[in-house]
Amino acid sequence: MIYKSKIKRVLIFLSFMIIVSLLSACADTNKNVSPSDSAKGSVGASNGEKTKESASKKNNILIAYFSRVGNAEYKENVDAVSSASVNLTGDKVYGNAELLADMVQKETGGELFFIKTVNKYPSSYDDTTEKAKKEQEENARPKLANRVKNMESYDTVILIYPIWWGTIPMPVSTFLEEYDFSGKTILPLCTNEGSQLGSSEDDISKLCPNAKMKRGLSVLGSEVNDAEDEVKKWLKSSDVTNDET
Ligand SMILES: Cc1cc2nc3c(=O)[nH]c(=O)nc-3n(C[C@H](O)[C@H](O)[C@H](O)COP(=O)(O)O)c2cc1C
Repeated sequence: MIYKSKIKRVLIFLSFMIIVSLLSACADTNKNVSPSDSAKGSVGASNGEKTKESASKKNNILIAYFSRVGNAEYKENVDAVSSASVNLTGDKVYGNAELLADMVQKETGGELFFIKTVNKYPSSYDDTTEKAKKEQEENARPKLANRVKNMESYDTVILIYPIWWGTIPMPVSTFLEEYDFSGKTILPLCTNEGSQLGSSEDDISKLCPNAKMKRGLSVLGSEVNDAEDEVKKWLKSSDVTNDET
């Protein structure tokens, strides 16, 4: 059932993308997209930060992540403690970005921070894509509901996000403008359905001109569950974790 509804959403979105592409053929819409819905849903920490048990390699790493699920209106219940989305049978559902965030947290021992918007995106996937497109065209800065405590205490920020219309979702732009990233190292880690990193690395650099950017990693949404080794390798090659990890 879940698989069928995922396929349905993919097909609906693909149709939407074709229509949008035709309508905006003359405009520079930049994005060559074939997004699908998340492999699973998503969640977020209500107070913005949560820590999980793990062997800590460095204690100055922030893992900031954004996901559609957890930022969209759901008919499901919301767990009052963790603010996680849960379905009607009470199971927690995950977004692709959160799955990546959990992998990174396990490896690095960093602090997790869920980038949460004040206004939710629509529960319909298609409506979310339309809203996101409009936000991008207007270069909007959607308001965020939470803040990182003591941002100055982190020198490395691992930024995890889904590609939306070829780049970072606009709430991630808001996040990047809310803090001073001068001298901090930013590692971009994105999930997508084919656009790879798109223009996200450049766009992050533009918003944080004084940050040190490391090479980003792209993981297909459908491959997130098997991405652990790739993520580990990337963290090591980025000098975030050491050889013993
Ligand atoms: C508004 C919106 C726009 C998207 N645009 C793109 C895109 O331009 N290119 C792409 O490859 N995937 C695109 N996707 C697909 C997501 O990047 C992909 O499904 C991702 O794995 C979802 O992560 P999440 O579950 O954490 O939200 C888009 C999805 C949404 C909701």
